[in-house]
Amino acid sequence: ARTRRPLIAGNWKMNGLRADGLALAKGVADGVKQAGWSDRDVLVCPPATLVLAVAEAVKGSGVLVGGENCHAKANGAHTGEIAAEMLHDCGATYVIVGHSERRADCGETDAIVRAKAEAAWRAGLVPIVCIGETLAEREAGKTLSVLETQLKGSVPAGSTAANLVVAYEPVWAIGTGKTPTTPEVAAAHAHIRKVLGGLTGEAAQFRLLYGGSVKGSNAAELLAAGDVDGALVGGASLKADEFLAIAKAA
Ligand code: G3P
Repeated sequence: ARTRRPLIAGNWKMNGLRADGLALAKGVADGVKQAGWSDRDVLVCPPATLVLAVAEAVKGSGVLVGGENCHAKANGAHTGEIAAEMLHDCGATYVIVGHSERRADCGETDAIVRAKAEAAWRAGLVPIVCIGETLAEREAGKTLSVLETQLKGSVPAGSTAANLVVAYEPVWAIGTGKTPTTPEVAAAHAHIRKVLGGLTGEAAQFRLLYGGSVKGSNAAELLAAGDVDGALVGGASLKADEFLAIAKAA
């Protein structure tokens, strides 16, 4: 039996106008209500413009809502940024930090990601800290050392299994249809758990998500890999049926 409660999270990325986003949220909420799961968490992370409306649309269904990013500060002169407090105020309980797209597009370093994770706590949110190697790093045999460096830099002191989730997303598997093999996923997750153990002293209960080309047809296999406690889903989270199929596989 699982000791860690699975978490299936959808990262909508920069997708969704109001009509589509609300229809998707309602589809997920209806499916989750119908399934009546009490043994897993289902989370949707819409673009910031939809957090409030999605939180209202899924109310009472058990579906959780998160942000895709936050600023490290609580407020101030940061034009265009969104504070973790603002996400919380709109009904979010989680926030993704350090997604590889933000690390690449916005120059987010491990130190910035760590500050955002701390900001999430300050606001009462659970951060989902993303890490993952590039294809070049994997081919050079550096995967585990890259993950270790990212964890040491991005995971704040004070992290516990209750207040932080880690997502392993190999950069080369995101949106490509390629995934690591099950043993490769298990090896990465085992290493992540070991490093978290050294950092926090309580690795056993941490929830570790796999992300990168998860879909309905491969979810069961990926979720069965050792030390995998859920998924962070991109493209396949944009269709309610497919996202629900992934949640069902957990
Ligand atoms: O955060 C989830 C994501 O990066 C994975 O995207 O489209 O490969 O599921 P996708």
